[in-house]
Amino acid sequence: MKRNILIEPDPILRKICKPLEKVDDSIKKLMQEMLETMYAAPGIGLAAVQVGILKRLVVIDISKDKENREPLFFINPEILHKSKKTSVYEEGCLSLPGQFAEIERPAECTLKYVDLNGKQKELKAEGLLATCIQHEVDHLNGILFIDYLSKLKKDMIIKKLVKHKKEIERVIV
Ligand code: NI
Repeated sequence: MKRNILIEPDPILRKICKPLEKVDDSIKKLMQEMLETMYAAPGIGLAAVQVGILKRLVVIDISKDKENREPLFFINPEILHKSKKTSVYEEGCLSLPGQFAEIERPAECTLKYVDLNGKQKELKAEGLLATCIQHEVDHLNGILFIDYLSKLKKDMIIKKLVKHKKEIERVIV
């Protein structure tokens, strides 16, 4: 089942998500639905808060090949280390449709997380995956990529999104 993705501005997207206490079948099902929602959008990362669930859950798949999917599931992800070296990617977000901006972030990061089997894992990421992980962990803390922009640029994007939301409502009505 595909889930609805919340669009900024939405106060839920600014909430701090709670750690998950136990990995059970309902969480596995939810994360599969998050993945399905992300693939359909399409996007390369999705946090549970973007479908209105305030838990620290993230799905990512940066593989471009539709035939060979490489989904990653992160439960309670925590960034342990970020490199001093930075990189810049043009970022977008499924909660900010049509909006993109160049964002500078640490080029590498080390992540601690729990996998779908409830096991503690560690991962060292670089390149697009490192950026994607940091973007998604930001979501769990109520942070969006536009928060790194100047107030002027951020306000401009939010204004466009408000207009976009009104247009969608008009179509539904
Ligand atoms: Ni996002």
